[in-house]
Amino acid sequence: MRRQQTEFLRRPEPRNGELVGGCKVSKGSTPTTAAPLARAVDRLELTSARVAARTLATTVGDEWRIDHAAQFAWAALTAFAGQVHPKLCLSGRHRTAAAPLDDTSRELAERIGLEAAQLPLIEALHYLTSLYPAMMPQRRRSEVGAFYTPPALSERLLDLASEEGLDWAKAKALDPAAGAGAFLVPAALRMRRATQGGEPAFVLAQLGRRLAGLELDANAAMLAQAALEVALGDLIVASGRAAPNFIRVCDTLDAEPSADFDLVVGNPPYGRISLSAEQRVRFGRSLYGHANLYGVFTDVAMRWCKPKGLIAFLTPTSMLGGHYFSALRGLLAKEAPPVAVDFVHGRKGVFEDVLQETLLALYRRGGAAQRIQVHYLHVTSETEATVTRNGTVGLPTDGSRPWLAPRAPEHCKLIAQVEGMPSRLSDWGYGVSTGPLVWNRHKAQLAHKPAKGHHPLIWAEAVTSDGRFIYRAERRNHAPYFRMEPGDAWLLVEEGCVLLQRTTAKEQARRLIAAELPEAFVRQHGGVVVENHLNMVLPRGKVKVSAAAVAAVLNSKVVDDVFRCISGSVAVSAYELEALPLPSAQAMKEIDTLVRKGTAGAKLENAIAALYGRPV
Ligand SMILES: C[S@@+](CC[C@H](N)C(=O)[O-])C[C@H]1O[C@@H](n2cnc3c(N)ncnc32)[C@H](O)[C@@H]1O
Repeated sequence: MRRQQTEFLRRPEPRNGELVGGCKVSKGSTPTTAAPLARAVDRLELTSARVAARTLATTVGDEWRIDHAAQFAWAALTAFAGQVHPKLCLSGRHRTAAAPLDDTSRELAERIGLEAAQLPLIEALHYLTSLYPAMMPQRRRSEVGAFYTPPALSERLLDLASEEGLDWAKAKALDPAAGAGAFLVPAALRMRRATQGGEPAFVLAQLGRRLAGLELDANAAMLAQAALEVALGDLIVASGRAAPNFIRVCDTLDAEPSADFDLVVGNPPYGRISLSAEQRVRFGRSLYGHANLYGVFTDVAMRWCKPKGLIAFLTPTSMLGGHYFSALRGLLAKEAPPVAVDFVHGRKGVFEDVLQETLLALYRRGGAAQRIQVHYLHVTSETEATVTRNGTVGLPTDGSRPWLAPRAPEHCKLIAQVEGMPSRLSDWGYGVSTGPLVWNRHKAQLAHKPAKGHHPLIWAEAVTSDGRFIYRAERRNHAPYFRMEPGDAWLLVEEGCVLLQRTTAKEQARRLIAAELPEAFVRQHGGVVVENHLNMVLPRGKVKVSAAAVAAVLNSKVVDDVFRCISGSVAVSAYELEALPLPSAQAMKEIDTLVRKGTAGAKLENAIAALYGRPV
């Protein structure tokens, strides 16, 4: 039985679906002796102070804004350090020469630093270091991916590593995109606790060897180093030694890796990236199409991780099912299979700066493929979350295929059922393409009246939310016809098919919204043009299931749930649709008959659900 106790709460071994308690991170942070909680912490005041700091930042000239934000966070951190460790002198490593702050900024920063000393240590350090990205211009912030992880998530990710047996007394840990130390600080405190009683100079030197961060942005590196020095302040003061340098300023994608870390942990930057030719070759093993930074960082993490070591990453959920991540999934499945994942749910407004569709994943390099333990992490504030354990799921035989993962507790049983369903749309005789017309590239060809050479133009509005096809073009800028020009033949769809909305959010009642585009309608008009916000499920050769039955299955609740286990973004992609596990064409005969007889509603839903093993 796996150990479930964490550094923060001793939890009883839970049953599936049972709440396993809160990882109330403030409990785990080391309370500072120099700044006891003399009065209730006024977090609201600190929130207002951050708003004031942001407002102040907007008054600063563009050329000075980044440095100003860094200097501001540094001044606040220094004031904080003076309060909690009066004898500690911060090294100022990675500090670049910059003009001093103006008096207004310095006074506000110092006031914030002093006020933050009322908070638990980790919360305070997160709050103070986050002033830097908060005060950056938004565009710059997105460009560099400066979104710092709140303690509720960083502590939980480290807990996952602890639960897999990471020995904090010996482990070496690396954050390859260290930011301002959101993972390194709590990791340092765990290492520290695990080596309690050691001689301060010895423990400090050991931590210098066992803890490392790589970071592109020198300002972030300065803050990470300072945050670590504050966190280890008593050790530094007691040892009488200078703090080790924990952070290297470099481009992680170009750094020569050495695979000697027991834990590679972090929240890598996200977004598309253009790699150099040399980088494309180096990371070719994990690339498919466009490179995304977090995928490349996952590949990098595998290179720094020891055999049998752990990789603990916070990433978007899109890596589980997205086509662009297929090579990465294949590589991970083979070389560092996942051990546990947490799906993160946050109350709206809880995270000021963090994306919502988030996953905490733990992989073991060179581990045996095993069933993955799934949890839901419900984040209620920047420092608090509750964990609910929810069963296990397996990887597909071909690891590059989408990894089905339960987004809700009831999905676990369903996934177990579909693991034994090998049929896909291709086995029914269908393939998926996106509607070919990008209308605003052909504005002059939109037409309002039928005429020779005009064909019906099918917009997404033609597929109703209850699964019917209605030929209409009522929205602004929409027109019902398309005038073909020479060379446009590829835009013409000349056979009946199933149409599906291409963009739906997880908050919508249904992710899959489909309708049959009747063959008779297409014939009557000699072909139609389908707009790009629709997918088309088209016959490819001999079909074994009618288009009407395909539409009925795609519109069913049970298949919608299966799709939610695959898709982590708002896109309903052709790739994910083609990966949907389906009943065999043979089993579909019954559904075909029901559809032909006009059966609908609960009776049809139940018949489809039964093919997925759901009680009817
Ligand atoms: C999402 S932030 C996370 C920071 C920190 N690990 C945390 O969780 O708060 C990503 C960090 O990666 C850094 N970064 C982006 N590209 C990088 C690169 N090529 N090499 C090293 N660091 C990079 C950014 O400057 C940013 O600090």
